[in-house]
Amino acid sequence: MASRAPRHGPSWTLGELEAVAQRSVDGRIWGYIQGGAGAERTQSANEAAFLRWVLVPEALAGVRSVDLSTSLLGTRVGSPFFVAPTAYHREVHPEGERAVAAAAGDLGVLATYSTLSSDSLEEIAAASGEGPRWFQLYFQPEPATSVELVRRAERAGYGAIVVTVDTPILGSRDRQERSGFALGRPVPIGNGPSVRTPPRGPSWDGGAYELGDAAEANWAALEAVRKATTLPLVVKGVLSPGAARRAVEVGANAVIVSNHGGRQLDLAPATLDALPGVVREVGRHVEVYLDGGVRRGSDVAVALALGARAVGVGRPVLWALAAGGQAGVDRYLRLLGTEVANTLVQLGCSSVSAVDRSLIRPAPAEAPRATEGPGTGRATVLHRPDAPQPTGRPRRG
Ligand code: FNR
Repeated sequence: MASRAPRHGPSWTLGELEAVAQRSVDGRIWGYIQGGAGAERTQSANEAAFLRWVLVPEALAGVRSVDLSTSLLGTRVGSPFFVAPTAYHREVHPEGERAVAAAAGDLGVLATYSTLSSDSLEEIAAASGEGPRWFQLYFQPEPATSVELVRRAERAGYGAIVVTVDTPILGSRDRQERSGFALGRPVPIGNGPSVRTPPRGPSWDGGAYELGDAAEANWAALEAVRKATTLPLVVKGVLSPGAARRAVEVGANAVIVSNHGGRQLDLAPATLDALPGVVREVGRHVEVYLDGGVRRGSDVAVALALGARAVGVGRPVLWALAAGGQAGVDRYLRLLGTEVANTLVQLGCSSVSAVDRSLIRPAPAEAPRATEGPGTGRATVLHRPDAPQPTGRPRRG
C-alpha cells in the first residue's frame, strides 16, 4: 500500500514516538487515544509496575544470534509481542487498519483487530496477506450479530476469536470527554451499520441506572461464542485467577491479562501485578498473554519472565500509525523487535523460550529520604523485596 513518509523523518526512536504522534493528530483524537478511566490511576500503574523489577544481565554469555519467533496457539509468529486491538484507526491516519495489517503482515507479527475497526475485517484481511491475524469481538446486543461477525472472521482467515470481557459498559474517561472526542459526529465503523459499540449508558439521575438494549455481557454469552466457532477462543480482560479459571472452563484456549490499557475500571490492578496469579491458576492449561503499559523491549522481557507467552501493545501502535501510516508502524515494530533482541542478548538468551523467572529480581527498595531516619523523628523503613532471590541458573540456549 502506498504510504505517506513519516512526517518527522525516519529517525525517531521508541522513546520519542509518543511526542511525534501528538504533533500529528488533532486534540480530540489525542484525548481519545491517551485517555484512561477516571483519574487514570490504573493506566499509570500499568507502566509503573514494570519499575518494580530489574533484569539481571548475564556476563559473557556469548550469544551470537537471537530468534524472536514463537508460536501462539499453534501459529508461528515473528515476535513475542503482538498488536492489541484498538478501534477507529482511520481517525488516527487515513490508511487505517490496512496500514497496520500491511506492516505487521510483512514482518509476521500477530495483529488483533477490533470489532470497531474503521476498515472492514475483510479489507484488513486482504491487506494482511499471509500475516497472522485475530479478530476481537465485542458482544453485540443481538447475539446473531456477534455470530455473523465470527462467521465473517472465519471466512476471512482470522486465526482466533478474541472476546473482550472487560467492557459491559465503556469506562468513564475524563480526558476523552474533555477533549470532545466523537461529540461532533458518529465515528464510522467499517464492519457495517449493524455493529454497536459497548454502551455509554444514560446519566445517573438519582434513580436506577439502566443499560437499555446493551449486549448481555455474561458467561452464557461467552459460552455461546465458544459453541459458535471451532476457532481458538481467547478471552481478553481477565485480572483474577477466578476469572481466568472460569474462562478456561468455558473453553478458552488463551487468556489475556488486560485492564484495557487502564480505560475501563480506574483502580483495577496493574496487569503485571495480576499476571503471576493468573499464570499460577491456568498457565499449565492455556497460554497466558498480557497487555498494558508495555513500552520497551525490557518490559517485554519482564512480562515473559513472569510467565506471559506474549505481550500486546496498544497505544504505541497508534502513535506509530499517527506518525507515519504503514511506514510508521513498520518502523515501530522493527524498533521494538530490535530492542527485545538486544535485551535478550544481554540476558544471555538466544530464544524467547529461554526467558524465565531467574532473569528478573524485585527492584531494590528506594533509599530512605533525608527527611526520614535518625535525627528526623521518623522511623527509617526499608522495604525489602519479599520474593526469594534466585540462586544461580543454568546457561540458557
Ligand atoms: C483500546 N483497547 C481496545 N480493546 C479492545 O478489546 N477493543 C477495542 O476496540 C479497543 N480499543 C482501544 C482503543 C484505544 C485508543 C486504546 C488505547 C485501547 C485496549 C487495547 O486492546 C489494550 O488492552 C490496551 O491498549 C493495552 O494497553 P497499552 O499498550 O495501550 O498501554
